[in-house]
Amino acid sequence: MCGIVGYTGPKEAYPVIIKGLKRLEYRGYDSTGVALQDGALKVYKKKGKVAELEDAIVGKDLHGHTGIGHTRWATHGEPSDANAHPHQSSSGKLAMIHNGIIENYVQLKQELINKGYQFKSETDTEVLLNFIEEIKKNNHCSLEEAVRVALKRVTGAYVILLLDADEPETIIAARKGSPLVIGIGKGEHFLGSDASPMLEYTKEVVYVNDYELAIVKPDELILKNLGNEKITPYVQKLDIELAAIEKGGYEHFMLKEIFEQPHTIYDCLRGRLDTAGGTIIMSGIQQYADQVMKANRIVMIACGTSWHAGLVAEYIFEELCRINVEVEYASEFRYRNPVINPGDVIIAISQSGETADTLVAIENAKAQGAIILGVVNVVGSSIARVSHGGAYTHAGPEIGVASTKAFTAQLAVLTMIALKIAHDKGTIDRDRYMHLLNELSEVPNKVETVLKSKDKIKKLAEKYKDARDFLYLGRGYNFPVALEGALKLKEISYIHAEGYPAAEMKHGPIALVDEHLPVVVVATKDAYHQKVVSNIQEIKARKGKVIAVISEGDTDTAAICDDVLIVPEADEIVAPMLSVVPLQLLAYYIGVAKGFDVDKPRNLAKSVTVE
Ligand code: AGP
Ligand code: GLU
Repeated sequence: MCGIVGYTGPKEAYPVIIKGLKRLEYRGYDSTGVALQDGALKVYKKKGKVAELEDAIVGKDLHGHTGIGHTRWATHGEPSDANAHPHQSSSGKLAMIHNGIIENYVQLKQELINKGYQFKSETDTEVLLNFIEEIKKNNHCSLEEAVRVALKRVTGAYVILLLDADEPETIIAARKGSPLVIGIGKGEHFLGSDASPMLEYTKEVVYVNDYELAIVKPDELILKNLGNEKITPYVQKLDIELAAIEKGGYEHFMLKEIFEQPHTIYDCLRGRLDTAGGTIIMSGIQQYADQVMKANRIVMIACGTSWHAGLVAEYIFEELCRINVEVEYASEFRYRNPVINPGDVIIAISQSGETADTLVAIENAKAQGAIILGVVNVVGSSIARVSHGGAYTHAGPEIGVASTKAFTAQLAVLTMIALKIAHDKGTIDRDRYMHLLNELSEVPNKVETVLKSKDKIKKLAEKYKDARDFLYLGRGYNFPVALEGALKLKEISYIHAEGYPAAEMKHGPIALVDEHLPVVVVATKDAYHQKVVSNIQEIKARKGKVIAVISEGDTDTAAICDDVLIVPEADEIVAPMLSVVPLQLLAYYIGVAKGFDVDKPRNLAKSVTVE
């Protein structure tokens, strides 16, 4: 999620905060705002970039020695002035900013509405703020105590900063699951999502831990747990530079985002997948579940990596839901005269939600009566708004041009949709349904395991970086993974790479095979495994170099390959989320070894809003 900044001390707070928000700009966001306190609370916020907020509030009263600032990456409620943070409580006496997701906000909101509360925004944040205010009012307690009581009822992830008009100079902060750093100054304190907003003022910092609450005044920092027990702050001295912080200590955003995948896949599943209860809750899909179940056809429409996610989904939906699925390049679909029958369901897949070809393709289909479901990362983006329903991937901002964490998040969402439809339609039995729920829930940990092999993959990159061409092969669920691996390599290292169904090799591409051609074969244990092993033998018989993605323990396949990339065993339906990760790393390390700008590859843009 996005960025938070806070300051309390002798300086004017606004300049410190606005500069800090700019430092967090790399985290991507859609709206921003500040709250300042000098007795009264002053809140300024709007959709758009920090510079737009700055321009909009020139001449306003920006005085105050205590303040908080926020850059929003929307999860609940589209980007708008009203949904921007800080939010003010019903009484107007509290202001709060929040990074994260309050999973049980719907229930809390209903409780508050029943007590007469009204809401000015669609966000989960405003619900938490008024929940805190309701407790403060009812219990006649301090803000600090109200926050502690409220957070015991909250499920989800948060870092929150609050101001109270009645408690000048004080910032109350708390965190669970989202980051919070407190900078220690002389008679002043700084707060931030990372240390970048405070680095120029202090390098002495305290990293707040989950379930901790901080009471921050200019000359006092008190840390407590939710049990109201004091904790001695552990002050660390930073020896990191600003540029490194923005990438979380990683050399590139792409590497950071590859390593975020256990967390982002978990974020995708959280609040939706309940393995104990055997349920999948996706409100944006639920309302169209009937139409999907009854659909004669589902058409996946996307571009690039998102199109590859659609290809994986084709295998999953046909296998589980027994519904005919077609996967279309948006650019082809929109320009031919496709047949759209009423009742057709279109699933539009897009990280940015702004890809021009995808947007126009679904607008055309919508006009012909199709139901449009969006699987999108950027909340409130054009494709999300045009869609009738859908599900966000909650992967957070993806800065690297080459899509990585958004792809695995798309697969997680699409797998949940297929499982939900198959369950409701009765096309899979209870045992298989529960098995696949558990398989899905184990993916974040298994991706964590794959990431541990980064050093081995880095060595492989050194070995193969000078190859002129690559061939990527896979069958079934892993065929789209081969395509995605080839695209990653092309994008990042500018080496020509082609992905093919493994069985298709003998219909032409095998003519390419010789001792100079590395062939990446996705050969994890699944129904196609033995056939893929035969394809590996065919390549070896022609002196090709084989780099195989194999399942843990598959020593037989390892014995016939030149190099292997090992992933934990998993059901073939969730396997692509694992088998793609070593291919992401291989492309990344080859690109770095060749000295290219892997975050901004030549000729490419992060969001292709041109046709
Ligand atoms: C993927 O690495 C590329 N950056 C590109 O193919 C991308 O997937 C494509 O442009 C679609 O973008 P979207 O998901 O934002 O619609
Ligand atoms: N869930 C909150 C919202 O949608 C916070 C999002 C964020 O982390 O920026 O407003």
